Amino acid sequence: MSNAGKKVEISTNKKEWHPSPLVDQIVLVSTLEKDGSPNVATKSWTSMVAFGPPPIIMFGCNVEHATAKNISNRGEFVINIPSDDLLATCWVVGSDPQIRGADRFKNNGLTPLPGNKIQTPHVGECKGHIECVLDSTKKWGKEIVFFGKIVSVSVNAELLEGDSNERYCKLSPLFYLDHIWAAPLGEPRRPVDPKPESGC
Ligand SMILES: Cc1cc2nc3c(=O)[nH]c(=O)nc-3n(C[C@H](O)[C@H](O)[C@H](O)COP(=O)(O)O)c2cc1C
Repeated sequence: MSNAGKKVEISTNKKEWHPSPLVDQIVLVSTLEKDGSPNVATKSWTSMVAFGPPPIIMFGCNVEHATAKNISNRGEFVINIPSDDLLATCWVVGSDPQIRGADRFKNNGLTPLPGNKIQTPHVGECKGHIECVLDSTKKWGKEIVFFGKIVSVSVNAELLEGDSNERYCKLSPLFYLDHIWAAPLGEPRRPVDPKPESGC
């Protein structure tokens, strides 16, 4: 007999979820080190939390990560949005804590570009950039959530051209499924007209 539709309780430990019932968008968070050099790290526990004003975004981070220390020191960060072409890069950037700072940009072919309203640079190869000034934090053990006030948002000009399908296909955001699985966006569709007009 088929088990389809039968409810099964699974672990509350996210590390054991496969498939993970909750997926998160993969982002590259850039920060500034104490000596002024840029750092970049892959994060996926991120979400908008308030329209505002001020608009608020959050992401979760281990307190021992350079990213957490940099934000606590500098009070700012940028959430950069990588596209599908940067999937492997996101994995490498998020897997080798030994290489950090400017070397992490250089070794992964990433370019720090000046921000609009804050000093922290953008990751040039990403297609979206959300500049944040630290609002507040909430900590549980070794995990800390940073809430940032969004002060500037920019996207590559080509994302503002074409129909909705083309725009989302060009953005092609990435999602973290579980520790070895990720996926790009599927075909964008309107909930009231669930047939996609065309695929990416
Ligand atoms: C796909 C992916 C998603 C990740 N998401 C997170 C996250 O949400 N929070 C976190 O603290 N670390 C996350 N990591 C791990 C960090 O990227 C990694 O520990 C990195 O070395 C931290 O760098 P930092 O010390 O410069 O901040 C993720 C790694 C990968 C590959």
